[in-house]
Amino acid sequence: MKLKILVGTMTSTADYVAQAIQMDCADLVSDIEIKLMDGLEIDVFGQPPAEDALYLICSSTYGQGDVPDNARMLYDSLDTQPQFLGHVRYGVIALGDRTYLQTFCFGGKKFDERLQGLGAQRVGEVWCHDASAGTLPETEGTAWCREWLALALAQTSPTETTA
Ligand SMILES: Cc1cc2nc3c(=O)[nH]c(=O)nc-3n(C[C@H](O)[C@H](O)[C@H](O)COP(=O)(O)O)c2cc1C
Repeated sequence: MKLKILVGTMTSTADYVAQAIQMDCADLVSDIEIKLMDGLEIDVFGQPPAEDALYLICSSTYGQGDVPDNARMLYDSLDTQPQFLGHVRYGVIALGDRTYLQTFCFGGKKFDERLQGLGAQRVGEVWCHDASAGTLPETEGTAWCREWLALALAQTSPTETTA
């Protein structure tokens, strides 16, 4: 299985989280690719029949609960070029700050909403990190990701894991 981490970020925190996951989770998934969302559109999710890939949206939040600038094109394309994404399995790491009470982690949550609307299958719950809590998103994010990957691998059929 391949893990593709799609990174939406303004000041690189989400990228650092993705890099920490790439290093820490190599024993669980042999192929982990990080893609900054810049220039990406819906076709990054491929076409059915499903490629043996799992996607991890790793996105911060800006403005008033918006996706980061580098994620805008991908986010918009989920609306303007809709396709059925029933073959896509994904998870979400949403970075935010609870001092933004009304829009906490909306960047990641907005991706989740659009992906669900297109029929993609989320594995596990959306994981939110609060920058005001003083905890390290890289450390907490990798710990969460290990559990999430175990769940995703458990849901993968034996033929897919051995393929
Ligand atoms: C100008 C600005 C606006 C922000 N708006 C929100 C917001 O609406 N909701 C939220 O949860 N976090 C918000 N944040 C917090 C960031 O999402 C958080 O600090 C995140 O860890 C940054 O990750 P990045 O470096 O990958 O962009 C905002 C931060 C800044 C600087």
